[in-house]
Amino acid sequence: MRAITVIADQELELADVPDPTPGPGEVLVRVAATGVNRADVLQRAGHYPPPPGTSDVMGLEVSGTIAALGEGVTAWREGEQVAALLAGGGYAELVAVPAGQLLPVPAGLDLVDAAALPEAVCTAWANLVQSGGLTNADTVLVHGGSGGVGSAAIQLAAALGARVLTTAGGPERAARCRELGADLAIDYRAQDVVEEVERATDGRGVDVILDVLGAGGLPGNVRMLATNGRLVVIGTQKGRKGELDLGLLMTKRASIHAATLRARPLEEKAAVVADVRERAWPLLDDGRLRPVISHRVPLAEAARAHELLENGQVFGKVLLLP
Ligand SMILES: NC(=O)c1ccc[n+]([C@@H]2O[C@H](COP(=O)([O-])OP(=O)(O)OC[C@H]3O[C@@H](n4cnc5c(N)ncnc54)[C@H](OP(=O)(O)O)[C@@H]3O)[C@@H](O)[C@H]2O)c1
Repeated sequence: MRAITVIADQELELADVPDPTPGPGEVLVRVAATGVNRADVLQRAGHYPPPPGTSDVMGLEVSGTIAALGEGVTAWREGEQVAALLAGGGYAELVAVPAGQLLPVPAGLDLVDAAALPEAVCTAWANLVQSGGLTNADTVLVHGGSGGVGSAAIQLAAALGARVLTTAGGPERAARCRELGADLAIDYRAQDVVEEVERATDGRGVDVILDVLGAGGLPGNVRMLATNGRLVVIGTQKGRKGELDLGLLMTKRASIHAATLRARPLEEKAAVVADVRERAWPLLDDGRLRPVISHRVPLAEAARAHELLENGQVFGKVLLLP
């Protein structure tokens, strides 16, 4: 098959590589499209190595058609259309996936577009709902609502009935976040996010924050948390090591949770996917959740897809088409 490999100086090349074989409990998916994630850009630069035993080909999510079943897989059939959460291997024509990480493509959803969903929706769901305990009584702040994960998080939080505040870089991007269901979108380049959140919540703060900033966002995030608030950190775009005011955290009886999805054991990922399938996937049926696709790029031009992401030209997701 053909796959994108990283050669010297972080250059990407479309190369012939051996086809993957589905192991026990896995299925082989013929890829229709692959979702590009910021994590891929980090992996290409050597900052986010794949977990041990995982394909060193980039790519955390695909859509496609089941081409073969590994030993012991009974819940899926050859020819079925699926979306899949991966630990790697998606920048390719074929990928082997643990069966527990497959989601069906609902009628009415384009097979290619479905590639925009697994990583974004599973990350948003696992962190907003499972870790953050978001309910319809809560106000949530989604940092980076214009991103792949953020655009899914806005839609999920709005569908749950929460009040959704978000940040985005620029007025047009903020406006698009409001179209996705955000009640308030703050342009973090032009506005003071802490002040805007305090004003919007009458000084009360927010119950849940989905954070992609990390260290650089920590002081503001702790200030913006309401009493009993939950800060859930999923990214470190503004640094890994910061200073934390534990006194303020204690006064607020607040908590901080930090997690990655890719490094979790198979059974934990399968549990996230099963919960997403039961509780988030039905939102696709009536359009409360939809893929947000910015660009569709041929797989051979994966480097251009990364450039788009790095240059801030993407709203939602970029898809690669083999
Ligand atoms: N822990 C996990 O399991 C997990 C899983 C998936 C992703 N992630 C992480 O989640 C983050 C988002 O991933 P993605 O694939 O959705 O990336 P993405 O599409 O590139 O989105 C990045 C987002 O960050 C926003 N941003 C950048 N600087 C900001 C700032 N100073 N204040 C507020 N927002 C800012 C961008 O906003 P503008 O473009 O509008 O400026 C954009 O919305 C990444 O850090 C990624 O590593 C973690």
